[in-house]
Amino acid sequence: MSTGTGNPMDVIESVSGLQSRADAYRSAGRRIALVPTMGALHEGHLALVREAKRHADGVWVSIFVNPTQFGAGEDLSRYPRTLEADLAHCRAEGVDAVFLPDAAEMYPPGSQTWVEVNELAKPLCGKSRPEHFRGVATVVSKLFLAAKPHVAVFGEKDFQQLAVIRRMVVDLGFDVRVVGVPIVRESDGLALSSRNQHLDASTRSQALSLSRALDSAQRALDAGIRAVPALLHLVAVELDKAPAGRIDYAELRDPDSLKPVGNPLDAPTLLALAVVFMLPDGREVRLIDNRVLKPQPPGSAFSEKQP
Ligand code: PAJ
Repeated sequence: MSTGTGNPMDVIESVSGLQSRADAYRSAGRRIALVPTMGALHEGHLALVREAKRHADGVWVSIFVNPTQFGAGEDLSRYPRTLEADLAHCRAEGVDAVFLPDAAEMYPPGSQTWVEVNELAKPLCGKSRPEHFRGVATVVSKLFLAAKPHVAVFGEKDFQQLAVIRRMVVDLGFDVRVVGVPIVRESDGLALSSRNQHLDASTRSQALSLSRALDSAQRALDAGIRAVPALLHLVAVELDKAPAGRIDYAELRDPDSLKPVGNPLDAPTLLALAVVFMLPDGREVRLIDNRVLKPQPPGSAFSEKQP
């Protein structure tokens, strides 16, 4: 296959094939950056690829819809799959290799080994998806062992996932530098997500309530409001404007430990949201979004707003 830049883009389906490629790359003194994905690539994923390029000689993208991070009754079977378009995006971005394993390649028959990150995986998404981060940590470990990357790039869109992976890398001593990339949004604020494809026009406009809630909280902080109940009230007011949405969580947490924060806010604080939208056909789509809120130093809010 050709990237259009004259470089061939390899599509590799086996772990051993990827490991050999990684060994050859490393022996030639070349640096590898890995971008793990579940496909249905959009501009958010492509921002990761572009960031990855800044850190390595070759960017490798994995596309694998990882069954172990979906719970029973979640959307594994209807997760969007757009392989041809994904490969075209990768080629256009000059990606060097795409890793495209099947489930048996990633989970050999009889698999019984898991990677579990404890405290960081419990709150927020972990509450309603109790096995989700075990699936993520396990598959990302396997991807690291297969691709042997120097650098791995993840989006801040999945803030808790990034925290879990950073912890796992330290705890297991993976020789991989983890790089985070800010959330890529549509021009109206909606965070890009593969799941947005499921939204009809009405639900999509209601989904803007997430980014509006984040903005509303930051605006309140800019105006000097730092009381946690007041901030959460403003968030609820925005989210309640979406009748098709059911709030899974709307929480303020320490951005490093993901522990609850004290009142009032006196340091950068993660505002994390998850809302489940009911589509007209009765199916559900769960969307997440987040922002690290920055309180103004006391006394500065008003004066900063003066012309
Ligand atoms: P997936 O949802 O495909 O996302 C792949 C990567 O793209 C993640 O690091 C995610 O945070 C990032 N991403 C998605 N939307 C983004 C946006 N709008 N802005 C910035 N980055 C964005 O996350 C997963 O897959 C899986 O859990 C995976 C890590 C591949 C393990 O299976």
